[in-house]
Amino acid sequence: MIKKGIILAGGSGTRMSPITKAVNKQLLPLYDKPLFFYPLSVLMLAQIKDILIIVNKGQVDQFKKVLPNGNRLGIKIQYAEQDKPRGLPDAFLVGEKFINNQPVSLILGDNFFYGQSLTKKLIECTKLTNGAKVFLHPVRKPSLYGIATINKKNKITKIIEKPKKTNSNLAVTGLYFFDNKVVNFCKFLKPSKRNELEIVDLLNKYKKNNKLTAEIIGRGGAWLDTGSIENFNDTANFVASIENRQGFKIGCLEEIAFNNNWISKKTIKDSINFYGNCDYSKYLYSIIN
Ligand code: G1P
Repeated sequence: MIKKGIILAGGSGTRMSPITKAVNKQLLPLYDKPLFFYPLSVLMLAQIKDILIIVNKGQVDQFKKVLPNGNRLGIKIQYAEQDKPRGLPDAFLVGEKFINNQPVSLILGDNFFYGQSLTKKLIECTKLTNGAKVFLHPVRKPSLYGIATINKKNKITKIIEKPKKTNSNLAVTGLYFFDNKVVNFCKFLKPSKRNELEIVDLLNKYKKNNKLTAEIIGRGGAWLDTGSIENFNDTANFVASIENRQGFKIGCLEEIAFNNNWISKKTIKDSINFYGNCDYSKYLYSIIN
């Protein structure tokens, strides 16, 4: 059973400079909340309550201004710093102590997921005890992502980082579930040509042992990009469209915690006081009244 999750919220956000020069990209507003609320909400929907957020050196205090700890959400949040980006698997090395030989999930701090059956799938994935599991989603431009080829049993037969040519359109999204061997595997990874540890190399280790499986988010769900300004804006517009149409918020952490019975109405009131007079608080108020 996976009870721990890591959010990798470092990186220099170069593709979004100058916006990201002074601020971590994951603190930028994706419509009405900081970007990292969305991946955090995914872990919470997976019933994961013990969470490590990895940020760049010197940025912990900025994150703590929004989310000092997990108390108001009924969960445990810790922060760790990464002195420079060393690739996604570095999250498991930075987080070794936090992981403490347990199975763990990793989500990238700028990944956005949405869909009706997502929660059910997430909870299913946390049952993993042996091997690794990735979430795949069809994309029109495979050359931008890690791409997987699968067989009829959803077993991955091939996985390549940003292939120039491929017959598959299934991107490996930034949400991963690993057994407790992950830290050890990461210790033996070698940096790639771009001098980073590559997630695909880690996944290939599991594949070699026949231990890599996939969960597919089909066309009824969405995995959206926030990599470039244009994608970031498209994703923000997606959130705005759905929220303004339905009246429900996407990625409202307190709402998820409340629905999971992790917090009381009184704790939601604490959050309302903390955020002050804003639309987000009004939404929280509507949940408890
Ligand atoms: C990284 C991974 C890639 C994955 C993507 C998902 O790419 O290397 O396999 O598909 O995240 O967001 P990057 O964002 O470093 O280009």
